Amino acid sequence: MAPSFTEIAYRTMQQGRSLAGLVHKELSTKVMEVVAPDVVPKTEPVPSEMMDALRQSLDELHQRDWQDSESGIYPQSLLFDIPWLEWAERYPRVWLDLPSNWARRRARDVKDIPDLANRDLYPDYYLQNFHHQTDGYLSDHSAELYDLQVDILFNGAADAMRRRILPSLQQGLKRFAGRAPGSLRILDVATGTGRTLHQIRAALPHATLVGVDLSEAYLRQANRWLNQSNKPLVQLVQGNAERMPFDDAGFQAITCVFLFHELPADARQAVLQDCYRLLEPGGVLVLADSVQLKDSPQFDVAMDNFRRVFHEPYYRNFISDDIDQRLKDAGFSDVQAESHFMTRVWTATKNSSPQHSDSLT
Ligand SMILES: C[S@@+](CC[C@H](N)C(=O)[O-])C[C@H]1O[C@@H](n2cnc3c(N)ncnc32)[C@H](O)[C@@H]1O
Repeated sequence: MAPSFTEIAYRTMQQGRSLAGLVHKELSTKVMEVVAPDVVPKTEPVPSEMMDALRQSLDELHQRDWQDSESGIYPQSLLFDIPWLEWAERYPRVWLDLPSNWARRRARDVKDIPDLANRDLYPDYYLQNFHHQTDGYLSDHSAELYDLQVDILFNGAADAMRRRILPSLQQGLKRFAGRAPGSLRILDVATGTGRTLHQIRAALPHATLVGVDLSEAYLRQANRWLNQSNKPLVQLVQGNAERMPFDDAGFQAITCVFLFHELPADARQAVLQDCYRLLEPGGVLVLADSVQLKDSPQFDVAMDNFRRVFHEPYYRNFISDDIDQRLKDAGFSDVQAESHFMTRVWTATKNSSPQHSDSLT
């Protein structure tokens, strides 16, 4: 069957985003080579077969994204729901930010963060310039540029990758099909600026949504994205994902996107255990993060280059970590995982007969 006009529009838009991301990265690297050659990261050349495989898996991601919108898992309008105007307005600031990024690289300074009145709130591992970004996660400036920077990094595929959690989330919530949709509570852990909650609200408009994150500035940005329309309000709470400020068993589903590669191994385990505590028996946890060496060995150079270019102190450990086992150790069962482009999605269930982990927390 010939593709519809909307499908052609979607594919053309994604090709444009992909090209824009590639052009930005190419240009900014060229500028860095001229202006700050001493800080150009030493990366491995990506073999042409790997480039082909990356392109193919990006195409497959968009294919799945399109099909899932066609089959009603989420509305088609979501595929086009991008804050173009705000991103266009913020884009020059991505360039203006580069000199301070280079200066930090030159000084090997990864702890250049704003003064904090309440430093005790944050674990030490958090107080760094992840991705070499100005202020780490701790300022409005950082929060305002974050979504655009992630979209550039993933060649326009960041939202499509986030949406990979939605089929598993919908499927997992079927266990609670007899309940009023408004009584279902979904928590997005490390919600950042709220892009994942934005996707979830479009797919499950009646569920009650809550987001938790350590960064007040990112939550403020999430509040601006999420809570200024006439759509149902999302509750946003500041807290550490290792011990979240919610009662036991109060959520039917928990999601968590792009957090785990930024955590040390023991914190990963603590977050999983706390997610287990917060889920009602029968509830589902859906995690998305980077693919790993075991499931995507064909992308090993791309993974290695990622940690060379960006400050990602726990990434190398993460890509070899056994998340399936960690989920089981936390008490989860029915652990499943699948990979899409550079994202792996894990789905796990809290059994109706709770296991040991409740007593661990
Ligand atoms: C890479 S961003 C991902 C944000 C968002 N989920 C997304 O899809 O873009 C990581 C987020 O995790 C948050 N974070 C890191 N460690 C955390 C912790 N221990 N507890 C809560 N949030 C944390 C950061 O503030 C940041 O917003």
